[in-house]
Amino acid sequence: MLVSTKELYLDAKAEGYAIGAFNVSSLEAIKAVLNAATELNSSVVIETSENEMNYLGADITFTLVKMLADKLQIPVGLHLDHGKSVDVVKKAIEAGYTSVHIDGSSLNYDENVRLTKSVVEIAHEKSITVEGEMGHVPGSSQNHEEDASVGADLLTNTEEAKRFVFETGVDILAISIGNIHGIYKNEPVLDFERLKELSEIGIPMSLHGGSGISVEQIEKAISLGITKVNVNTELRISFTETMRKELCENPDKVVPYEYLPKVVENIEKIVTTKIKLFKSKGNR
Ligand code: G3H
Ligand code: ZN
Repeated sequence: MLVSTKELYLDAKAEGYAIGAFNVSSLEAIKAVLNAATELNSSVVIETSENEMNYLGADITFTLVKMLADKLQIPVGLHLDHGKSVDVVKKAIEAGYTSVHIDGSSLNYDENVRLTKSVVEIAHEKSITVEGEMGHVPGSSQNHEEDASVGADLLTNTEEAKRFVFETGVDILAISIGNIHGIYKNEPVLDFERLKELSEIGIPMSLHGGSGISVEQIEKAISLGITKVNVNTELRISFTETMRKELCENPDKVVPYEYLPKVVENIEKIVTTKIKLFKSKGNR
């Protein structure tokens, strides 16, 4: 069933696992995420960035996810990822999204607080969960030829984060601890000391840039309080490479429902691996 995400994060925090939040921009990806989560009896979050939401259509995304999720026993959250303005948040909420991320991380502290607080007021009135961001997670969800590097000025400052949570009333906080969007030549190195300090704030925390981070680092991050892990790039690569392979190997194929099932199957495999890694398997 379609649910608000706050309870999912609080349960995850209490039980020491993380909820997987998977970006989608197609029916194939939605099906793959729901198939994997159902098979593992796990809660899950389906999310779209602004661009993904605009491509698929906010209403269409909601209608598809709601229709499919309501047939299932597992809780499913529908989340706006990296919303940058009140207008885009309103669009998601009006369509029926149950959770929003307001990303004011490129603004200065006061502007970020102001923007995030205004979203919390709008969203909480409708029992919609709000994710805020302090510090900035750079990069973009694709393959990069260079090394991953996150400037020290982008990392989340614990004192500032504590104030931000108190002043805005967000339900979950996206943090910057060396994580980065996309896949790079090297693996990002997470700052676990900083994560330990941040976990003392006591709020659920999300780790963006979940692609390309090793099993060991993900496990450690979850053991130190990460309750939501966002994954996009690995799913995008799988979608595109599977389709490319299918079409190259079968140049005469023109029937989408003959080559797209392989796309669903391969994304599903990745989501299955991630859910097991995040330890939310069997939480329902
Ligand atoms: O908000 C989306 C995520 O942070 C995805 O990051 O593309 O590195 O998996 P990723
Ligand atoms: Zn992100």
